[in-house]
Amino acid sequence: MESLLRVEDLNVRYKSYRGELKVLDDVSFEVKVREKVGLIGESGCGKTTLLKSILRILPPNSIIYKGKIFFKNIEIIKANKNEIFKIRRENIGMIFQDPMSALNPFFKVKDQLYDALRYSVHNIKSQQDLQQMIIKLLKEVALSDSERILESYPFELSGGMRQRVCIALALTRSNDLLLADEPTTNLDVTIQEQILNLLRELVNKRGLSIVLVSHALGMVKEFVDKIYVMYAGQIVETASTDKIFSEPLHPYTKLLLSAVPRLTGRWKAEGLIGRLPDYVNPPPGCRFYMRCQQSNSNCKIKPKLLKLNKDHSVACWLYGDEEH
Ligand SMILES: Nc1ncnc2c1ncn2[C@@H]1O[C@H](COP(=O)(O)OP(=O)(O)OP(=O)(O)O)[C@@H](O)[C@H]1O
Ligand SMILES: [Mg+2]
Repeated sequence: MESLLRVEDLNVRYKSYRGELKVLDDVSFEVKVREKVGLIGESGCGKTTLLKSILRILPPNSIIYKGKIFFKNIEIIKANKNEIFKIRRENIGMIFQDPMSALNPFFKVKDQLYDALRYSVHNIKSQQDLQQMIIKLLKEVALSDSERILESYPFELSGGMRQRVCIALALTRSNDLLLADEPTTNLDVTIQEQILNLLRELVNKRGLSIVLVSHALGMVKEFVDKIYVMYAGQIVETASTDKIFSEPLHPYTKLLLSAVPRLTGRWKAEGLIGRLPDYVNPPPGCRFYMRCQQSNSNCKIKPKLLKLNKDHSVACWLYGDEEH
């Protein structure tokens, strides 16, 4: 499969009153055409930071310290405003972690969809044409009562409906790639499943690639082809979904997976003792070192993400240390 998005050695920091938070540390990440990729890791490990870097929508106190991001043949970090705007309008859509913050509370759903389509779709011939496109879009996200929905303000809709509107908005912008940041958080389990099924259907139908961030691991397992496991701003393991679940290698991945049944919403699990290191002063070696049951003195040196075979890489001194 052809590569669509490639992140190479990305380092992103945040300025804070305590000093720089060195969050993303040499992150490399790839999404191929039509590929479904999962990104998992506990709260605060940098998942949203990575997605926002791709669209260049990081907050003002952020610094892209080092690294490259290629979307098709465009180098995102060096691209000019027009190129970035074009990508945001036409190529890469994002579903945000908090659906309320993605919608403008003061405008009816109708106006928000009109606006999105006006800027993203070029071949709109008339107002009627636009209206039809919107109704078709709402049907696609399984919102059938379109007249009522269009006349509603976001707060008048249920959580599930709001998320469907957000998906519709993101779809207007994503002809190639959808970045879905915890698209089912705060929804009931049955609604979560409906939303993920809808996403899967749309992604398949439109031939899109997707990056799915979710702590609902059972659903991630059903959804994606490949998984990246992130810990404290570093990719610690990546493999096909089957491999991650059947043969997890990194001690952190193992803990994360074993913690699943006890999860109640966010990544706060009994198997995972301790917390993320301080990003102002992260350990220079493996960032999981302090919490790892299998650590040794090697771990004070940073392990590289080592490719063990075609579709399995791990950054841990327990594996293939002579090649590090
Ligand atoms: N604007 C900011 N200024 C300072 N620190 C920030 C800022 N945004 C995020 N951070 C910090 O960066 C780290 C990574 O945050 P990020 O939101 O990317 O994590 P996440 O993996 O998406 O977490 P969650 O699962 O809770 O959404 C956290 O420690 C967070 O507090
Ligand atoms: Mg997040």
